[in-house]
Amino acid sequence: MTTYITTPIYYVNAQPHLGHAYTTIVADAYSRFRRLAGDTVRFQTGTDEHGDKIAEAAGREDVAPKAYADRISALFRQTWPLLDIAPDNFIRTTDPQHVATVRLILQLVYDQGDIYFDEYSGLYCRGCERFLTEKELVDGLCPDHQVPPQEIAEQNYFFRMSRYQDQLIRHIQDNPDFISPERYRNEVLSFLSEPLEDLCISRPKSRLTWGIELPFDAGFVTYVWFDALINYLTGIGYPDGASFQQFWSVAEHVIAKDILKPHAIYWPTMLMSMGLPLYRRLHVHGYWNVDDTKMSKSIGNVVRPAQLVEDFGVDTLRYFTLREMSFGLDASFSRDAIIARKNSDLANDIGNLFSRSVAMLQKYTGGRIPEPDLTASDSSLQQAIELMLPVYSEAMNTFQFHRALQAVWEVISHANKYIVINEPWTLAKDPGQVGRLHTVLYNLADCLRLLAMVLRPIMPGAAAKMANGLGLAADHVLVASLPESGRWGLLPAGGHLPPAEPLFPRMEKEKPETIVPVAKAEGKTAPTQVQPEIEGITFEQFQQVDLRVAEIVAAEKVKKSARLLKLTVRTPDERTIVAGIGEHYSPEELVGQLVLVVANMKPAKLMGIPSQGMVLAAKAVVDGKERLVLPTIGSPASAGCKVA
Ligand code: MSP
Repeated sequence: MTTYITTPIYYVNAQPHLGHAYTTIVADAYSRFRRLAGDTVRFQTGTDEHGDKIAEAAGREDVAPKAYADRISALFRQTWPLLDIAPDNFIRTTDPQHVATVRLILQLVYDQGDIYFDEYSGLYCRGCERFLTEKELVDGLCPDHQVPPQEIAEQNYFFRMSRYQDQLIRHIQDNPDFISPERYRNEVLSFLSEPLEDLCISRPKSRLTWGIELPFDAGFVTYVWFDALINYLTGIGYPDGASFQQFWSVAEHVIAKDILKPHAIYWPTMLMSMGLPLYRRLHVHGYWNVDDTKMSKSIGNVVRPAQLVEDFGVDTLRYFTLREMSFGLDASFSRDAIIARKNSDLANDIGNLFSRSVAMLQKYTGGRIPEPDLTASDSSLQQAIELMLPVYSEAMNTFQFHRALQAVWEVISHANKYIVINEPWTLAKDPGQVGRLHTVLYNLADCLRLLAMVLRPIMPGAAAKMANGLGLAADHVLVASLPESGRWGLLPAGGHLPPAEPLFPRMEKEKPETIVPVAKAEGKTAPTQVQPEIEGITFEQFQQVDLRVAEIVAAEKVKKSARLLKLTVRTPDERTIVAGIGEHYSPEELVGQLVLVVANMKPAKLMGIPSQGMVLAAKAVVDGKERLVLPTIGSPASAGCKVA
């Protein structure tokens, strides 16, 4: 199978921002997913460099339009590798090959009788670079740019778009997945229920010179949209290139809702006039706002992807954007939201699963993938993976990335519970259970192999680290092809694990939390209080203690202390508790456990770490030595349940 996926070509009047990054991450993730499924893929992006807007921006900087375009286009080209985005082709509308093809197509459409000369007057929005209809205005203003359009009367060339209106309606009706999600398909059909006007496709040189000259009239340049849309053909060598034969029939375009009309109406009708088949699918996503406000230069809240990579890492940025936005709807970006996802989904869930599993393999099997004991086999992880794979594939194929990731995270949470239920640390103490121990550890390793596979399109870097951590090459054949490697049990036993690297270190929230009083400052002891003799406490007094069930989501040793562990727990809000149980429990056996905590202890600092609460443990004496034992709580209790 073959796949051809494109992004819009971005105007060079602005530098790359989160919106451009999102569309391009989507196209990259999809192209990696189709490669994983065995397709030959071509992925194209690029820059749109002609037209009013660019000429004006260059004028403001007092440079020639081409020199200006060279500079900004290079910024886009250099940004993509920072985001692990790997297009096969980067096209520019100033490429001579593109210019020649646009002229060829204009001549073809002209010869076809679909271009005519006429006098026109209309309402022109410079921001949109198109004429708007009265109906599109809101309170007399362009709804996107909030400015009144200019009344312009001039002679121009027109494309007979109206001729193809019925054919286009039929095509959309006959091909339900031509435009998706459905809300955009409906929007286009509703627009097409009114008579379609022809499209003005030229600008007189007296008004604009920065464009491609019409082949049949040197007094005019081509309207920027007629020029730009053709990039999807020139990039694959239309009309005679081998790539054009190979890829055109499977073309898929990703765009945001702002440019739906040019892609869903102008472009298909242009293709009809050229006698070419239409692209296969158009995927339309919503807009990123920032802290619930429209992203704009004038507000000064434009988010730059390179900065996000520096602050959070490329995998976190890719994961966050794909997980947070429901494809088709708007989403809001905030730095707190990205940190919250990094800590919970990445550091706690997948990060812990990986580090605990690898640590146990290092500890209990000397860093080798063990041979599973088939007589001790159990299939719950295998089942979880096998249920997830088709849901994941279907969601990735239909651009519902958030759903694909939800399905993957269900497996991750299942696997974390699998560790808690099977207690490999207990199995390791009993020589009679070695078969079972090996099976549990093998299952975890194979589950991680498959997780690394499905996460490859989303987070190529982290997925490679995971594969490496299992002793596999990042592009090992075991993770190369989706249908085959979807099979369970392909990880060969005996493989040696290299020392593991942590996948996702946790991040502190950026805004300082409300300052909490610190009872015991580091190194100092609080003044000892004389306890009054009491004969018992009342129920009201007992009720002042906020006892709760807490889930341990992360655990690590406190440096330079054998006794202290730093626990991240959910009560259900997330907090840190430093507990003195390090000599009795290892961090990996704690994650996923439900424990009892005093949630309203006065905050304290232990070894410099703020601790908000106290974990309850029973003090047992075994062979004359004190042993701390955590009380066990089972389901249906969950994080946050009050204990009374
Ligand atoms: N040059 C035209 C496209 C021609 S394609 C033949 C253009 N360029 S643009 O630079 O304005 O890019 C628009 C695209 O950038 C949107 O369709 C979307 O892909 C992306 N985004 C720009 N801002 C965005 C958000 N705030 N949110 C999400 N994506 C947005 O239009």
